[in-house]
Amino acid sequence: MTLQQELATVAITVEESVTGIRVIKGFGAEPIQEAELKRRAGRVYERAVALARVRATFIPVIDFLPALGLVAVLWYGGHQVLDHHLSIGQLVAFNSYVVMLIFPLRLLGTLIAQTQRAVAAAQRVEEILMTAPEIVDRPDAQPMPEGNGEVRFEGVTFAYGIATDHPVLGGLDFTARAGEAVALVGSTGCGKTTVARLIPRFYDVDGGRVLVDGADVRDLKVRELRRAVGIVFEDTFLFSDSIRANIAFADPEASTDEVERAARLSGAHDFIAALPDGYETPLGERGFSLSGGQRQRIALARAILANPRVLILDDATSSVDPTKEHEIRDALATVMEGRTTIVIAHRPATIALADRVVLLDEGRIVAEGTHEELLLTSERYRQVLAQAEEADELARLGDDV
Ligand SMILES: Nc1ncnc2c1ncn2[C@@H]1O[C@H](COP(=O)(O)OP(=O)(O)O)[C@@H](O)[C@H]1O
Ligand SMILES: [Mg+2]
Repeated sequence: MTLQQELATVAITVEESVTGIRVIKGFGAEPIQEAELKRRAGRVYERAVALARVRATFIPVIDFLPALGLVAVLWYGGHQVLDHHLSIGQLVAFNSYVVMLIFPLRLLGTLIAQTQRAVAAAQRVEEILMTAPEIVDRPDAQPMPEGNGEVRFEGVTFAYGIATDHPVLGGLDFTARAGEAVALVGSTGCGKTTVARLIPRFYDVDGGRVLVDGADVRDLKVRELRRAVGIVFEDTFLFSDSIRANIAFADPEASTDEVERAARLSGAHDFIAALPDGYETPLGERGFSLSGGQRQRIALARAILANPRVLILDDATSSVDPTKEHEIRDALATVMEGRTTIVIAHRPATIALADRVVLLDEGRIVAEGTHEELLLTSERYRQVLAQAEEADELARLGDDV
């Protein structure tokens, strides 16, 4: 591997040690991670020393060559002058031309080397840029139809990659009426996030259709569709930029008033205003300096500012400490008003925000009703909630490590 590649692996190890600190500490794996970092850093060191050695050999030689040339010119030219074939002036002029040429020639050498490196790098960048996206507008793509955000799944089958014997969704029928708040509940891995991803068309269905306001999402302009559907994911990603820029992500032109309004709705305004730099506070890598709940509220403000017809909250409160959950829950309630909302959740308090609960199991809806109704009638529902509570409990223990 080249030095650049070795450096990249060290950078990755460091980044993952930081972002994965909970996992590392949770497993008591600090020594393992440290050894790994040492090993990789050691390889960088060896590479760098090897490279320095090559340089140390070549650079003096390269520096020495022009000097050798000068000696040759003076020696030969000197004899020519002594033999009266050449005047002193001509020799001096010739010699200064040679000296003037040395620097541009060396520069040319460096330029050629740099060009070769740039070409190699550009090829790698191009490989990524030239990857054709799988999801593109159809030639006759339609604009978003009028509507208030009705979402309908009709017999949707879906599998990641090549359709296997066990598709994630096996004939899903599901409707969220315009303006309704639906809680989507199900055990881990049952396909809730997959349902969320199909609405803004991050993937295309294998069978059946997904409709937003009556239009098949595959017939719509992808950009318009994605602006109409807002998602807040469980693992909030914040950019290394100011809080304002993070909130105004969908619309960098948004006015201060609009940013503040979104932050108030999501319950983020108060803690932002209390920061020394307020909305201009820069967020570090992935915004690590904020608590989970604060990051979640900024992500929510970002979704609100985009003002989507359909808002999907994928486990948006699960990384928030349950004792602090009510803060973000109030914010959610405000945001959900008059907007179709699909809340993926497992805590009863969050589920209670929804008008209706649907229980997803093995890629199908197996029960529907209010939270209380399902508690009474569905054994599976009780099971799923109990499992989720246990997992929550474990996660909390892990956090204390
Ligand atoms: N990007 C992906 N590629 C391949 N398989 C995936 C991907 N995302 C999820 N899966 C698989 O699809 C199933 C459903 O996952 P997901 O929709 O994330 O479930 P949930 O959100 O209900 O926990 C799981 O078995 C999961 O391993
Ligand atoms: Mg999920």
